[in-house]
Order: sequence, then structure tokens, then C-alpha cells
Amino acid sequence: MERTFVMIKPDAVRRKLVGEIIRRFEVRGIDIIAIKMLTVSQELAEKHYAVHQGKPFYAPLVEFVVSGPVVAMVLEADDAVRLARNMIGALKPSDAMPGTIRGDLTTDTQRNLIHGADSPETAAAEIALWFPELQEPAES
Ligand code: PPS
Repeated sequence: MERTFVMIKPDAVRRKLVGEIIRRFEVRGIDIIAIKMLTVSQELAEKHYAVHQGKPFYAPLVEFVVSGPVVAMVLEADDAVRLARNMIGALKPSDAMPGTIRGDLTTDTQRNLIHGADSPETAAAEIALWFPELQEPAES
């Protein structure tokens, strides 16, 4: 079993798509290990997207993610990172296949509804950042 991190973005919350998106993961048989709704601080957003600092979309992306509440989740399944990414669909609207979250629910590259970790290593780092309470207690 593998864990991944996904974040339902402010546009999806505003459009009342939280239930629809969670439903897709649940009916697929993926376990929700942790879930919380929060308004993201500037600091958390900058840490989350730190790898993209300097890219043209970095500042608007951070601004977008802090613009309203999000729903952060840890999902668990076999090959969860790849599974969730495939269910989310491609970033470019014309590449997002019907049946995927983006392919069914958006045509907007920036307001793309949901983030999914892109590798098991990234997933572990993002889970630690967003859900520090899930970390194993340190050995004394
Ligand atoms: S890169 O450069 O290949 O690493 O970028 P990518 O992995 O495709 O995307 C990284 C995150 O930036 C978002 N993104 C954008 N947001 C707004 N506008 C534009 N043009 C844009 N291009 C990329 C993309 O959605 C990724 O964020 P998350 O939250 O992971 O979806």
C-alpha cells in the first residue's frame, strides 16, 4: 500500500465540487486516511510550491491557493500516487481525458480544481508538511 497527498483547491470548494471529487476517490476504493479543510497560510503555500519558485506561474499559483479554503487529504491505495494522478487528469485542458476530474469538471489551466503529489517522495514530503500529526513519534 502507498500513500499520496491531494489538495482540493479553492476553485473546487467555491464551485461546491468537494463532495463530487471525494466521491470519485471513495467509489474507486481508495482509503481516506486523513482529511481537513483549512485556509492556507502564505507560508504553507510557499513551502508547498517551493520547487516552482522562479517559474512564471509561481506567484499567481500561491496567490490562488491562499484565496479561499482548501481540502487536504491523505489517500491510501496500491500505487496511490499514480492512481490519484491518473484520476486527476492532465494539466492542459485539451489533454485532460473525459472521465478524469479535470477532464470532466474544468477547462481552466490555473483553476484546475485539485493538486496531486507527483511521486512517492513528494507525497511523503507533502504529507509531512500538511499533516505533521500523522508522523511517527520520534524514538527516545
Ligand atoms: S513544471 O514546470 O512542469 O514542474 O510544472 P507542473 O508540474 O506542470 O505544474 C506545477 C504546478 O503549477 C501549476 N501550473 C500552473 N498554474 C497556473 N498557471 C499555469 N500556467 C500553470 N502551469 C503549471 C500546476 O497546476 C501545478 O500545481 P498543482 O497544484 O500541483 O496542480
